[in-house]
Amino acid sequence: MMTDLGDLLNRTTALALAYLESAGERPVAPPASMEQLVADLGGELPAGPGDPAEVVGSRARAADPGLVVANAGRYFGFVEGGALAAALAADWLTSTWDQNAALFVLSPAATAAEEVCRRWLCDLLGLPPGASAGFTTGGQMANLTGLAAGRHHVLQAAGWDVEADGLFGAPEITVVVGEERHATIDRALRFLGLGDRRVTVVPADGQGRLRVSALAGALGTGPAIVCAQAGNVNTGAFDPVGEVCEVVHERGAWVHVDGAFGLWAAAVPALRHLTEGVERADSWATDGHKWLNVPYDSGFVFCAHPDSHRAAMRVSAAYLLQTGSRNGVDWSPESSRRARVFPVWAALRSLGRTGVAAMVERSCAQARRFAGILAADDAVTVLNDVVLNQVLVGVGDDDRTRAVAAAVQAEGVTWLGTTVWQGHPAIRISVSDHATTDADVAVAADALLRAVHG
Ligand SMILES: Cc1ncc(COP(=O)(O)O)c(C=O)c1O
Repeated sequence: MMTDLGDLLNRTTALALAYLESAGERPVAPPASMEQLVADLGGELPAGPGDPAEVVGSRARAADPGLVVANAGRYFGFVEGGALAAALAADWLTSTWDQNAALFVLSPAATAAEEVCRRWLCDLLGLPPGASAGFTTGGQMANLTGLAAGRHHVLQAAGWDVEADGLFGAPEITVVVGEERHATIDRALRFLGLGDRRVTVVPADGQGRLRVSALAGALGTGPAIVCAQAGNVNTGAFDPVGEVCEVVHERGAWVHVDGAFGLWAAAVPALRHLTEGVERADSWATDGHKWLNVPYDSGFVFCAHPDSHRAAMRVSAAYLLQTGSRNGVDWSPESSRRARVFPVWAALRSLGRTGVAAMVERSCAQARRFAGILAADDAVTVLNDVVLNQVLVGVGDDDRTRAVAAAVQAEGVTWLGTTVWQGHPAIRISVSDHATTDADVAVAADALLRAVHG
C-alpha cells in the first residue's frame, strides 16, 4: 500500500536529520566504487510502481557509501561551501512549491525574490545598483552569460548583430585572458564560438595575478573582451581589477570578472580592498553554492549593461507570455528553471549584511590559522600568500606531496585537494564551509601532519 504524503515527508525529515547529525562522524569522502554504487542503485528498471517510502528510505540508503560529506566542516577540497540552515530549509520548500522561474507569469514569487536578491547582492558585492542579474546553475554558466553579453556589446558597437548574424563574417574580437584564468572561462569562450586557443594570454605574477603592464599591448584596436579574475582558484589572489578597467575602458573594450568565490571579499569591510575597482567592470560572475553556503546549485551573473545582457539571452515565442518588469528567462541561458533564488533569499535574509561578512571573514581567518599550523612544521612549505581562503602547500618533492595528499584523502578524517602550482604538485586547501570550526581546522591540519610524518 502507498504511504500517505505526510508520513513520507515526516520519514524523509527523520532521514535528513539522521544524516546531518551523523555527518561529523562519517568518513569525509568514503572510497566509493562506481560499479558497486551502480549495482546497488540499479538493477532492472522496475516493471511497475513502488512504495515511495521504500524508495526514499531503504533504497536511498544505497547512495550512502557514495556521499561526500562536504557540509560538516572538515571538507577543504575544491571550493565547496556547505549549506546554511535557512537555505537548506528554503531549498526543501523550493521543491515543494515546484516553481518555474522562467517567467513572471509562471512564478510571481520567484521573480520578485530574484529582484529582491538582485538588489541585495549588488549592494553586498559593491556592484552598481542598476546592474542586471541572472540566476544560473553556477560560475560556469555565469561566466558564459557575462561573456555572451560582452560579445553582443562589443560587436554591436562595431555595427554587427551577432545574435542575428552569428560570427561568420563578423569583425574579429580580441579576447584577452590572464595566464591563471579558471578553466570555465575557456569553456565559455568555446561555447560562444570565440575559441579557447585564439585568445591572447597575458602573463601572471607569482601569485597568479594578471600583469596589467602587459595588457595594453594585447588589446589591439578592434572589439575586445578582457577576462579578469577576483580570487584565483589556487591562491585566492585577485587581479588588479580597477587598473584593468582603466586600461581596457580607455580602448572601449569590455571587462568580465570571474569572481566565483573571491567577489565575496567585497562583502567584508576588512577585505574589500582586495576587490578595489571591481564595480567599474562590465560583467561579473559569482557563485552562491560556494561561499554563500546555499545548497547546490546556485550562481549569479551581473551586468552593468542590462540591454546587452538581455539582448544576448532573450528568447521569444508567441506563447511565452512576458509580463511585468522582470522575466528570469531574459537573464540566463536556461528557459524553464528551478527557483533556486529562494535559498539565496533565505541565506541573505537570515545572515544579513554583518552575518555574510562574518561568515566570509571567519573562513579567511581559518585559512590563515591552517597555514600557520602547517608553516610551523619544517617539513611543510606554504606556497602562497594567504590573502583569502585558499592555502597551497608542498611537502618535499613532487612524489611526496602527491603521496601525502593521497594518504590524507584515504584516511577520511578530512579531504584536501591537489593541484599543480608553478609546475609542481601542491596540496590545495579551501576554507568555505560555514560549519567549519577552529577545532575542525586543527583536526585537519593534524591529519595532514600525521601523513607527512607517518
Ligand atoms: C574562479 C572560478 N571560476 C569559475 C568556477 C566555476 O564555478 P562552478 O563550478 O560553480 O560552475 C570556479 C569553481 O571552482 C572558480 O573557482
